[in-house]
Amino acid sequence: MDKKQRRALVGLWLVFTLALVGWLSYSMFKSEDKTVFMPGPLTGGHHQIGVACTACHTDPLTSGEVIQQACVNCHGEDRKKPVDSHPRAKFTDPRNADTLENIDARQCITCHTEHQPDMTGNNGLTQPVDFCVHCHRDIGDDRPSHQGMAFDTCNSAGCHNFHNNRALYTDFLIKHLHEPDLLVSRTLPAREFADVLGEIVDYPADRYPVTPLADGDADVPQGVQLAAADHGDWLETAHANAGVNCSACHLVAPAENEKPEWTDTPDHRACAQCHSLEVARFQRGKHGMRLAVDLPPMTTGEARLPMKPETAHEQLGCNGCHSAHRFDTRAAAVEGCLGCHADNHSLAYKDSPHYALWQKELNGEGEPGSGVSCASCHMPRVNFDVNDWMSRILVDHNQNATLSPNEKMIRPACLHCHGLGYTLDALADPALIENNFRGMPAVHVKSMALAEADLKRAEAERAGSGAD
Ligand code: HEC
Ligand code: HEC
Ligand code: HEC
Ligand code: HEC
Ligand code: HEC
Ligand code: HEC
Ligand code: HEC
Ligand code: HEC
Ligand code: HEC
Ligand code: HEC
Repeated sequence: MDKKQRRALVGLWLVFTLALVGWLSYSMFKSEDKTVFMPGPLTGGHHQIGVACTACHTDPLTSGEVIQQACVNCHGEDRKKPVDSHPRAKFTDPRNADTLENIDARQCITCHTEHQPDMTGNNGLTQPVDFCVHCHRDIGDDRPSHQGMAFDTCNSAGCHNFHNNRALYTDFLIKHLHEPDLLVSRTLPAREFADVLGEIVDYPADRYPVTPLADGDADVPQGVQLAAADHGDWLETAHANAGVNCSACHLVAPAENEKPEWTDTPDHRACAQCHSLEVARFQRGKHGMRLAVDLPPMTTGEARLPMKPETAHEQLGCNGCHSAHRFDTRAAAVEGCLGCHADNHSLAYKDSPHYALWQKELNGEGEPGSGVSCASCHMPRVNFDVNDWMSRILVDHNQNATLSPNEKMIRPACLHCHGLGYTLDALADPALIENNFRGMPAVHVKSMALAEADLKRAEAERAGSGAD
């Protein structure tokens, strides 16, 4: 082959390669089904947004920093102190530069890459579980209590998390030493949305003043028919009582700057006018995450978890749990969930002492907040910062916020009623979780005892140095 021929071949090769790259990028980002271009399936956390490649990739050859920014766009709020004890800022600090030699903890994808099911473990972790060794090799010297412990146990249930340690740090354990299994006072905080309405700046009180509506006030347009029972549901419940008329939900603009029109099927956008926080939190968990990337709502048929087969087409919008026009939150908290979920843990709930407590509350035998519904654990009432000057008790509609790892459930749920030591043991016992907490924990976590030993040692040292 002479020089000329070779140059022609290289040129031809270049043209082909560029055409291929062009076609691939066009197909990946313009065609309908892009999943064929995935190098492998997505993790359990992201499988629902599989077709929305652009949530993570802006162009086909997305580089490190672009992907990092995508992760931070969706998860950034949770990746800061105090909810994260290894935030990125810790590792951009030059004093910790040496820790990055073996593992670059500044990049999310160092520990959570995608499309690699063979190396993906619990919680989307794509590192071996003993990866803590890279930075904490000397822990046995610093803490005598940790001598001889294997590095694949640091991340065990009830010990440490890499990110959220809000119920696991030493001072917190010490504060909760020797608590009884059941606390004396055992109730959840009360909801308070109606009481703080006046302080919510963007509430549309100008259009819908918060005063009870009577039968004749309903602003039903001509030609619209609502069954008498449904009309009664509206009239007797929270919305009519708070001045929320038919048009508040049903009159919506089809697009921005267009004239509002009546719709028979209002969705979360209608609710967001008054319940923006609920909608925002909903979109951050597995129930609503598809809405955040403009995909149609999740259906039970597409779930990886076991679901009741007869509900395969059930869509997960606000109506999935709150059916119109009663919007009954008590039905939503148990019967709603069991309309879809059919894993062993969910099905076992009705045999648990917690369900008995919930029934007592519904019957009026138990005080308000003493029952434990599915929502008490999975959608707890948390004190949430609305803005810089106000916080309120919010029903957290991100039902993943207390999961993976489950220690995130301790503070917002269990600690209202149980001691910390007992709770750590219960949440570390997979069989007890599977039967939805019927019976005593069969596992014992050593964290409380280690914290107490640390405390005693520190006290002894202090006493020793005092005697000198
Ligand atoms: C939740 C985020 C996320 C989504 C959604 C996602 N990916 Fe990825 N993808 C990643 C990550 C992380 C990597 C690894 C990047 C790296 O190692 O630099 C990756 C790598 C890739 C690669 C290899 C490219 C390279 O630089 O090595 C391809 C091809 C790819 N993804 C295609 C897709 C397609 C097609 C879709 C949509 C059907 C998609 N991805 C959806 C996160 C995602
Ligand atoms: C469009 C928003 C979005 C983007 C972009 C996104 N995530 Fe997620 N991610 C979610 C949601 C929603 C969940 C499910 C709820 C949860 O587990 O918190 C989730 C779950 C996870 C989980 C938990 C998996 C499990 O099995 O428990 C990890 C880890 C994670 N994401 C890391 C990342 C990383 C790393 C990136 C960047 C490559 C990324 N995410 C990009 C929204 C996003
Ligand atoms: C890339 C390095 C790195 C890795 C990997 C790492 N850590 Fe750390 N860790 C640090 C640094 C730096 C500190 C801060 C040290 C200090 O302030 O004394 C820290 C602090 C801690 C603390 C005490 C402070 C706190 O706020 O909780 C615990 C406990 C801890 N790490 C546990 C773990 C566990 C468990 C793992 C593995 C799941 C792990 N670390 C992986 C670097 C790392
Ligand atoms: C050095 C390893 C490492 C890095 C870097 C890392 N993670 Fe994680 N991540 C873990 C481990 C380990 C878990 C399992 C739960 C735990 O120990 O906190 C986890 C769990 C998670 C979860 C599910 C549980 C939770 O607390 O929300 C999400 C979401 C997540 N990581 C997102 C991210 C994002 C986003 C980044 C980048 C800003 C990131 N992680 C960086 C190791 C890492
Ligand atoms: C708080 C919001 C809200 C208010 C207030 C409200 N609706 Fe609805 N309405 C809904 C939702 C949500 C649906 C169910 C949509 C679906 O199934 O997709 C619905 C369904 C309907 C339907 C169609 C299906 C059916 O059940 O017949 C009609 C008609 C209707 N509403 C009329 C009314 C009238 C009349 C009023 C006032 C008396 C009213 N609505 C007040 C939210 C509301
Ligand atoms: C114009 C404002 C407005 C709109 C639009 C609206 N709501 Fe409400 N909603 C309220 C107010 C105010 C309350 C509190 C009433 C109370 O507790 O006294 C409330 C209460 C609720 C409750 C609690 C009911 C109870 O019995 O405690 C649920 C659930 C609810 N709304 C769901 C929805 C859903 C779903 C939508 C959309 C289909 C929606 N709301 C649309 C104003 C609104
Ligand atoms: C998975 C089921 C489920 C879905 C889906 C759901 N909710 Fe709820 N919601 C509940 C439960 C359960 C409660 C009551 C919890 C409690 O009493 O502690 C509740 C309570 C509420 C309240 C009353 C909050 C308060 O502080 O008084 C509002 C408002 C509300 N939901 C709005 C919405 C909106 C808007 C959507 C759609 C984005 C939605 N919900 C989707 C289960 C759900
Ligand atoms: C309309 C059907 C439907 C209803 C009603 C419903 N869910 Fe879900 N739930 C789903 C689907 C679908 C998923 C996502 C499963 C997946 O991605 O594999 C899910 C996910 C979850 C997860 C996350 C599990 C995980 O491993 O990340 C929890 C927890 C959960 N639901 C609890 C509840 C609770 C509690 C209620 C009632 C307050 C409820 N659900 C009501 C369909 C439903
Ligand atoms: C006392 C608290 C509590 C109650 C009550 C409760 N759960 Fe759970 N749930 C948990 C814990 C803890 C986990 C396990 C998290 C882990 O370790 O992965 C869990 C896991 C789940 C999962 C994920 C299952 C999986 O295989 O990934 C679903 C779905 C779920 N619960 C739904 C429900 C439903 C529906 C109800 C009511 C019928 C309910 N839970 C009642 C605490 C509770
Ligand atoms: C609103 C209060 C409340 C909350 C929240 C709560 N529990 Fe309970 N729990 C109780 C009470 C009260 C009992 C005792 C019921 C009885 O013996 O009749 C109980 C019993 C138990 C039992 C023993 C069951 C048996 O058969 O003896 C376990 C285990 C348990 N809870 C674990 C948990 C865990 C883990 C959490 C958090 C994920 C939690 N609970 C949240 C009030 C609560």
